[in-house]
Amino acid sequence: MHVLIINASPRVKQYSNTDKILGAFTKGLSEEGATFSQYELSDRRSWDEIRNAYYENDNILIAMPLFVECVPGILMEFLETLKSKNDGTKVSFILQGGFYEASQLRCGETYLEMLAKNLGLEYAGTLVKGGNFGIRLAEGEARDKQVEPFKEMGVEFAREGSFFSPKCKAFAGPELFPLPVRIMVGMAFKFAMPSYFTKASKAFGAKKPLNYRPYK
Ligand SMILES: Cc1cc2nc3c(=O)[nH]c(=O)nc-3n(C[C@H](O)[C@H](O)[C@H](O)COP(=O)(O)O)c2cc1C
Repeated sequence: MHVLIINASPRVKQYSNTDKILGAFTKGLSEEGATFSQYELSDRRSWDEIRNAYYENDNILIAMPLFVECVPGILMEFLETLKSKNDGTKVSFILQGGFYEASQLRCGETYLEMLAKNLGLEYAGTLVKGGNFGIRLAEGEARDKQVEPFKEMGVEFAREGSFFSPKCKAFAGPELFPLPVRIMVGMAFKFAMPSYFTKASKAFGAKKPLNYRPYK
């Protein structure tokens, strides 16, 4: 089995969580004897090459982060340059996000299923997983530990050829946190997180406060 993998994050490879996830996932693929080639949409100079690969391959996996409850704009832009195939090509997706609850990724999942149809591709499922904010910030073993579970999904995908198995479905984790946890998280975001976000934004070089409203 050969898989064409497209990382649809707008972040460059070095900083992309999707790339680290794919690192673990492809280890699992390789363990099962599958081969792959990987491209990044963030490298616009390679779009012609990616388009050619899209037409030449019959097993495509597009991996992406959830950005503002939606699929990344850079993916939409790329898709607009493609023609539909209608030749039995399979497409699968990895849709990953920062927040834990799988429920917020479901709208994107539904969209991706429709997208496959619109492109004349055979839909082979979406692997949904939240809780990935911290991958890029971790290093070494701590990072490996975070992405390790995706290796097992690579093994599963190589064996099944899709993300429809019960193992892949269960991988999504909690659909919604229980009510007490949601209340606690809500309180944390209201009272504790603003000062954390302010510190983090300063560390990233922000010079204005986060509630700065220049046009108000
Ligand atoms: C502009 C922006 C919007 C985001 N919106 C969401 C969101 O709606 N839901 C979510 O769970 N995570 C959201 N995230 C977090 C990313 O999905 C998460 O960090 C992901 O692992 C990033 O992958 P990447 O580094 O490959 O782009 C957002 C991140 C950014 C930068």
